Amino acid sequence: MGEGIVRAFTKMGAAVVSLDVNTTLGSAIADEAGASFQSCDVSDETSVHEAFAAATATLGGLDVLVHAAGVAPAAPAAETDVELWQQVLAVNATGTFLTNRAAFPHLKENGGRIINFASAAGMNGYPGKSAYAAAKGAVLAWTRSIATEWAPFGITANAMAPMIWTSMYDKTRSEMSPEQLAAHDAKIRAMIPIGGKLGDIQQDLVPVVAFLSGEGSRFMTGQTFSVDGGKNMVR
Ligand SMILES: NC(=O)c1ccc[n+]([C@@H]2O[C@H](COP(=O)([O-])OP(=O)(O)OC[C@H]3O[C@@H](n4cnc5c(N)ncnc54)[C@H](O)[C@@H]3O)[C@@H](O)[C@H]2O)c1
Repeated sequence: MGEGIVRAFTKMGAAVVSLDVNTTLGSAIADEAGASFQSCDVSDETSVHEAFAAATATLGGLDVLVHAAGVAPAAPAAETDVELWQQVLAVNATGTFLTNRAAFPHLKENGGRIINFASAAGMNGYPGKSAYAAAKGAVLAWTRSIATEWAPFGITANAMAPMIWTSMYDKTRSEMSPEQLAAHDAKIRAMIPIGGKLGDIQQDLVPVVAFLSGEGSRFMTGQTFSVDGGKNMVR
């Protein structure tokens, strides 16, 4: 989704610096898209500090932070070891905290937007990915907290709960047996009223992120946007 947003936002005329721990792929995508690139491990305080210093110098400030980095390894709750737990929390939860905190001094100059990628897992739990669900719960609670604390500076902070077909989802699918995959697809068909499968990055996700990045969303903060074909309704 980060790739899709970088490609779409540059096309829309935004000045974009793309950050990723995968320097080879990230810089190739940024080059193609006409964006700049900074290598960054969002779980590492020094790396985040250096990447944000370089990125904001390139841009001459900051209007919008989209934080779409994440990892979602599978493990039954009882077999989750401390190493896996810490790795998942480090990228998803600590990464959100570090990038958001690094963006704050720049955004507070003129107001701005923070869009964090959470997950329905953070609301409903995710059997088989409980560390991931816990990390995304932290993303939601953090996002609501800064939405209030940083509102006086004209900064809004919102969270995404997407169900979008990406390489992360391809990886999740590759970890399933053929029987599990068939059962999964049947469940997804029943769960997603619009289309019966995960959505498309450019058609379904990008327009919402673009809206949340612009002036039209200035009165919306601390919200979780389910871009999921109607899977996650309040009932
Ligand atoms: N795909 C979905 O439907 C779905 C559902 C719910 C939540 N999400 C969340 O949305 C976000 C984007 O998901 P995606 O499907 O595009 O995932 P993806 O795996 O396709 O992309 C994740 C990106 O994060 C980068 N990354 C991983 N660790 C990093 C680190 N330490 N520092 C910097 N970059 C790092 C990866 O290199 C990759 O480019 C994630 O936070 C994910 O948890 C996705």
